[in-house]
Amino acid sequence: MNAQEIQGWVDSADSAFKACATLDDLKSARLLHTGDKSYISGASRSLGSLSPDEKISLGKLVGEAKASIANSLEAATKRLEDERDKKMLAEEIVDITLPVRRNHQGGLHPISIIKNDISDFFIEQGYFVEEGPELESGWLNFDALNIPADHPARTMQDTFFVEPLESGMVLRTHTSPVQIRTMLTKKPPIYVICPGRTFRADELDATHSPVFHQVEGLVVDRGITMAHLKGTLDNFARYMFGPDVTTRLRPSFFPFTEPSAEVDVFFNGRWIEWGGCGMVNPRVLQTCGIDTKEFSGFAFGMGLERTLMVRHGITDMHDIVEGDLRFTRQFGVGL
Ligand code: FA5
Ligand code: MG
Repeated sequence: MNAQEIQGWVDSADSAFKACATLDDLKSARLLHTGDKSYISGASRSLGSLSPDEKISLGKLVGEAKASIANSLEAATKRLEDERDKKMLAEEIVDITLPVRRNHQGGLHPISIIKNDISDFFIEQGYFVEEGPELESGWLNFDALNIPADHPARTMQDTFFVEPLESGMVLRTHTSPVQIRTMLTKKPPIYVICPGRTFRADELDATHSPVFHQVEGLVVDRGITMAHLKGTLDNFARYMFGPDVTTRLRPSFFPFTEPSAEVDVFFNGRWIEWGGCGMVNPRVLQTCGIDTKEFSGFAFGMGLERTLMVRHGITDMHDIVEGDLRFTRQFGVGL
């Protein structure tokens, strides 16, 4: 072994490493030039059998050669790793324009969508929203609305009474008790709408459900007349059903309004009852401690299922209450 030979090992290792095109190639070259069977390893092992003088001079050369080979190896490793990383970045690029897998996360029922829509319409005009409980006292659902126990009007709405019967509690048959709750807690001027769930012992058919929704509107202010009611209902109807909607007011009776009317909308070749309305009966205002010399008001109550049916040409109530996703998805998620 001499200096020239040792330099030869260094050079051939260096050029072998430089010639490698992949990390796998480099692994083989590394074993060949630095492994147990390589010249440089053999030289290291044979140092022990040399004379002390040779050991010093050749030992130094072998040490330097090993360091040089290690540097070449490191440089080649870095070069090949960089190349691999660059290639990976190019090949594994993510196409963010590809469509994603759709997971259905659920959405609002069309009744909730229309409820929010109606609320937004009235909130924009300065109304506030009140909800109130579904389990209601008979006094608020009937008596305060001028429907005494022995009054025939009490049977106009088939009521679900709640046990024990002495509790006097009912599942509210309409959203009108929320009017009373509002007038008992707030002073006029009052502009409020009350959307919510209502219950009646009605058979489920094409236009009725035992559980349905209403939205109540109540305005109490100075100088409120039937003209304000008519204007509000017309605006509301146009917002719901479009500018060409035909509505009519038909004289009717509710104990809590005087005069009273039914609002009908023309749909599917016939008139469909959308809701009831009227000027708040002064007796109701008085029950709530409102001075009828100063204030008057109007009120209305619409069925939300009916609204949805007219708006979307739905001919059967079953579609709304049965919760078939093929039906509800047509309305979007409404979020
Ligand atoms: C009332 O419930 C009154 N509280 C409305 C009212 C409010 C009048 C304020 C005056 C002032 P009525 O019982 O007619 O009225 O019901 C109102 C609307 O609820 C009906 O026009 C209809 O759209 C809807 N409705 C009534 N019963 C059902 C039912 N079983 N299924 C679906 N919708 C119904
Ligand atoms: Mg009616």
